[in-house]
Amino acid sequence: MDLMSKIISLCKRRGFVFPSSEIYGGLESSYDFGPLGVEMKNNIKKTWWSEMTKFQNPPAGGIVGLDAAILMNPEIWQASGHLAAGFADELVECKNCHKRFKADEIKQKVCPDCQGKLTKPRKFNLMMKTFIGSVETEASTTYLRAETCQGIYVNFLNVLNSMRLKIPFGVAQIGKAFRNEITPKDFIYRTREFEQMEFQWFCYPKEAKKYFDYWKKERIKWYLNLGIKKQNLRIKEVPAVERAHYARQQIDIEYKFPFGWQEIEGVHNRGDFDLSNHAKYSGKDLRYYDEDPPAGGKEKYFPYIIETSAGADRSLFAFLCDAYQEVKGGRTKTTKATKEIEILLKLDKRITPIKVAVLPLVRNKLKLVKKAKEVYRLLKAHFVCQYDELGSIGRRYRRQDEVGTLWCITIDFDTLKDDTVTVRDRDTMKQEREKTVDLIEVLNKNLK
Ligand code: GAP
Repeated sequence: MDLMSKIISLCKRRGFVFPSSEIYGGLESSYDFGPLGVEMKNNIKKTWWSEMTKFQNPPAGGIVGLDAAILMNPEIWQASGHLAAGFADELVECKNCHKRFKADEIKQKVCPDCQGKLTKPRKFNLMMKTFIGSVETEASTTYLRAETCQGIYVNFLNVLNSMRLKIPFGVAQIGKAFRNEITPKDFIYRTREFEQMEFQWFCYPKEAKKYFDYWKKERIKWYLNLGIKKQNLRIKEVPAVERAHYARQQIDIEYKFPFGWQEIEGVHNRGDFDLSNHAKYSGKDLRYYDEDPPAGGKEKYFPYIIETSAGADRSLFAFLCDAYQEVKGGRTKTTKATKEIEILLKLDKRITPIKVAVLPLVRNKLKLVKKAKEVYRLLKAHFVCQYDELGSIGRRYRRQDEVGTLWCITIDFDTLKDDTVTVRDRDTMKQEREKTVDLIEVLNKNLK
């Protein structure tokens, strides 16, 4: 099995990601995050949110959050340029089976499925249409947002005035976005429904370059701090012809997936593209009156926007790929079969889904099980915690290593005598004896 198939299989088997609507035969490119997947995705979003709203110390300015609606006035998408040719894929269609393919991805001149003749390339817009109310007419048409940031731009004045902010300042937002992708592929890498973690930095136009460089560095640091290996991350300076329609400058942060280098985040200098277009279409003055611009004097201008736009699903996928390890012959010397392969998911402690597992040494001793359940109840209010009594203790350690659990707490016969337990560390496999009453403090200390 190749690495990609192994990761997809682990995701299903251990409750990270399930194919959507599976009992009905599924829905192409739609996935559900299972019990471990949702914990991990929440952890990723939480660390991103803390990083962007609490721990950042840009040279100046404040940072606030927003949660805008998915459904917006459709005129927004005219103003943003998403209904125009710039947000469209070039497609060819098979004249026989009518299947469509991305023009830049298809090498041959005939349909790869039925060998039928192909049409000339045509633009196909990626916006997902929907209807508001009971009548499906042009007037009731709107769209599921294709990027979350438009909700930030149209709230520029609301945020500025309600929070009494001054330029420069930033707005962070996490939410779902939708694109009618023609070739969704590579598991959760490219889907039609996905989650974005977007950050918009409004700044004085002449300072845009300085802040572009600042946020670019910060975003790369975020991935490295969360354990992504340096050799698996790279920056692509996107040339003008390949840039998004709104970008004056763009870099893609790319990760080396099993299927090759692919973008996981974009950093864009969007200039005044969005605010000036929304001003034009809405008729509202979205210029900022600066009483103290860096150039001196007083000025009214459209702030420039530096955007960092990461995919929550894509980064989860990258974190999983990066953390996945196979240990041939097993991690412990006691593993009998030397051919055995043990899986270790070495996720960073902040994003790994389960922090602690509680395991009674054996399950047929009532007193051990009772004590283990007591410890589990004590810990589960503080940490994402799992109780497991099935199988040998070695097998249970392996089950936990496979999903990245940080610590396994084993309740053994000594526990019944002195109320101590063993705490096994996922990475070092060292086992320390701790008093049950100290566990919360010890684990919290380890987590920090
Ligand atoms: N607001 C800017 C923007 O949306 P983008 O490069 O189109 O820029 C940003 O998207 C990020 O959103 C990507 O780097 C990726 O992580 C995620 N993303 C975009 N399309 C996606 C899709 N079809 N499936 C999963 N994630 C996607």
